[in-house]
Amino acid sequence: MKHQELIFTNDVTSNIDALIEKYNPSKVFVLVDENTNKMVLPQLVAQSMAVANASVITIKVGDINKNIESLMHIWSSLVEGGATRKSMLINLGGGVVTDIGGFAGASFKRGIRFVNIPTTLLSAVDAAVGGKTGINFNGYKNEIGAFCEAEVVIISTRYFSTLSSEELLSGYAEMLKHGLISNAEIYNRLLARDVANIDADSLLQLLQESVMVKKRIVEEDPTEKGIRRALNLGHTAGHAFESLALQRKSPIPHGYAVAWGLVVELVLSHMQLQFPSNELTRLATYIYDNYGAFNVTCDDYPALIEFMRHDKKNDSANEINFTMLKQVGDIHIDCVASEEDIKTALDIYRDFMHI
Ligand code: GLY
Repeated sequence: MKHQELIFTNDVTSNIDALIEKYNPSKVFVLVDENTNKMVLPQLVAQSMAVANASVITIKVGDINKNIESLMHIWSSLVEGGATRKSMLINLGGGVVTDIGGFAGASFKRGIRFVNIPTTLLSAVDAAVGGKTGINFNGYKNEIGAFCEAEVVIISTRYFSTLSSEELLSGYAEMLKHGLISNAEIYNRLLARDVANIDADSLLQLLQESVMVKKRIVEEDPTEKGIRRALNLGHTAGHAFESLALQRKSPIPHGYAVAWGLVVELVLSHMQLQFPSNELTRLATYIYDNYGAFNVTCDDYPALIEFMRHDKKNDSANEINFTMLKQVGDIHIDCVASEEDIKTALDIYRDFMHI
């Protein structure tokens, strides 16, 4: 896989214009959702002739629309708009847009060039970078997809000014994860910040440092055969919380689920690898203070464990796999935890969360 170019900038339009000049596509398409169509696209159209002349493809907002119908709409719009293999698709939006747009780009005529411009912190720090593309299918998240990296990802914090603090915190949880799997210096810098009151330039700096953690891991293991699993820290328990919340018909933001999942998985890391208890307490306190708690009782444990068992990160149906840490930055992938250990970890999570 080729190496993905990342551009960190607060001047998105001149970078798009430069890319269009460099690749000289036969046609430019911009994929947006209903929100970015209203809130972000007009700014780019006003500043860039190339974007103003592009064909716009709009999909509905939300993960529920990251589906085969939206994908067919994108493919059809590309056909109707006369796209060729030399066309370029610009995905302007959050994780849904970059995931489905990336898959459309990977599959249309066996692949056309695409560029991601993430408009949320969560997509900038995670979804838009690293080449995981796809859609949900048959009730399973990201069931159909391909590894295919965007030609370029243009990352700017200028769109984040309209994000709610909940959306910022959601993205920040993935940054905390990158801190935990990198080194104490990066991690401490993140814990020292109050994300609700951070200025755009400082955020861009922290974001750049964080995205580079992911980029380095993806370059080493683009198709997740090994070390890329480090990026799953917090996600086995986190996805279980997300699924339980969905079952309760009260969905939680992905990053919040990851934040609470990090606490559970660092408890497991403490139990199995002696991850330092002072670090565990520091993280759990930061998470509780900023994210609050996701409420679970012992009665939820069987369902949570079932969700963890069905996580696609498990290689075998009987084992529940986790990425764990011995220290900040000391990653152990493919760790297995027993049901008893998971229940104990959930008990300790509830203590930390004052439940
Ligand atoms: N979101 C984790 C990864 O891209 O591998």
